[in-house]
Amino acid sequence: MRTQVVIVGSGPSGLLLGQLLAMAGIETIILEQKSKDYVLGRIRAGVLEEGTVGLIEQAGAAARLHSEGLVHDGIEIAFEGSRHRIDFKALTGRTVTVYGQTEVTRDLMDARAAIGAPTVYEALDVDLLELESDRPVVRYRKDGEACEIACDYVAGCDGFHGIGRRSIPEDVLRAYERVYPFGWLGVLVDQPPISHELIYVNHRRGFALCSMRSMTRSRYYLQCRLDEHVEDWPDEKFWEELTRRLDPDVVGNLRTGASIEKSIAPLRSFVAEPMRFGRLFLAGDAAHIVPPTGAKGLNLAASDVAYLSRALIERYASGSGAGLDAYPEKALARVWKAVRFSWWMTQTLHRFPESSGFDQKMQAAELEYLFSSKAAQTALAENYVGLPY
Ligand code: APR
Ligand code: PHB
Repeated sequence: MRTQVVIVGSGPSGLLLGQLLAMAGIETIILEQKSKDYVLGRIRAGVLEEGTVGLIEQAGAAARLHSEGLVHDGIEIAFEGSRHRIDFKALTGRTVTVYGQTEVTRDLMDARAAIGAPTVYEALDVDLLELESDRPVVRYRKDGEACEIACDYVAGCDGFHGIGRRSIPEDVLRAYERVYPFGWLGVLVDQPPISHELIYVNHRRGFALCSMRSMTRSRYYLQCRLDEHVEDWPDEKFWEELTRRLDPDVVGNLRTGASIEKSIAPLRSFVAEPMRFGRLFLAGDAAHIVPPTGAKGLNLAASDVAYLSRALIERYASGSGAGLDAYPEKALARVWKAVRFSWWMTQTLHRFPESSGFDQKMQAAELEYLFSSKAAQTALAENYVGLPY
């Protein structure tokens, strides 16, 4: 087979890229190792920057986002029994939209199917060849049959465990990583959210987050140790511990119930450089991972795709490869700022097992400064709503 761009991975990065390129008349084939249902079965976060919403609109997949998404003007941060609101709207003029990543993925899949663009699900053993030539070849197995696609470019949108980054020679690739000494235990429950905005909690028993998917479905997280298992946390224990970490004013609004999903996620910051090798370009989790504290994972994937799609469209429209040559540096410049913000939110809102008295005093002073300084709140707000592309 032959196409212009092979996209490996049918997550938000691959699907969004596929749509934006299709809108410009560029042919793509998406290869996904899992089934469609498996991809849609993954529970992920869901806070969208205005830039991400704009890209999904461009991709023609924003109708449900606009009808079901919740626009939020701010968040609250709780510390030592009181909550402090960070008013994004007043501080930056911008907002975020709460809409599950699973729903974004479903909408993009529907948009792709609607234009008849091909996705090969359960494409196994994807292998990327001739990446330094002007005609890369992608091999994979489908239903036991060996298949091959020749193309101009390959987009590695295949996440942290994908083949994309692993196709960059070790002597070329540089990786930067920070692994945090705790995880997030998340619960999804069909109950109204405790508040109409997200609440981030720094408590001496550990971090907590009150989030939502809609006005009838809520998502809660507790900082937990890495050696803990979901089985150690029956629902009652989860609600008891969450109650202990919430301030008395708000705890009365907590509606508990049977969890419909429960999982533990480790926290890490990870960046791989360069985000290009020959005709292979990485986007999203294939190149970088952020802890969820800053709600940046999906939004960073989207900004990568914004830069990469523009560069590919320029290449096919004018023949110029300038945008593609600039892509790695341009994407990484925004990536590192979001990695810093996510690291700062994690450092400031979690309890570190090894932290000294001095560390804890620094954290408290950081938060007291934040709550008392408009400048500090503006810095948080502009990072949370999304830095310019
Ligand atoms: N061959 C084909 N497909 C693959 C391969 C492979 N070797 N390896 C992984 N994939 C697929 C995965 O099954 C997955 O569906 O690539 C897709 C990658 O999707 P994501 O992990 O969702 O990555 P991305 O699209 O970059 O989205 C980033 O996901 O994890 C969240 O917080 C993160 O919100 C961010 C978003
Ligand atoms: C979520 O709703 O799952 C969520 C929201 C904000 C975060 C992380 C997760 O920072």
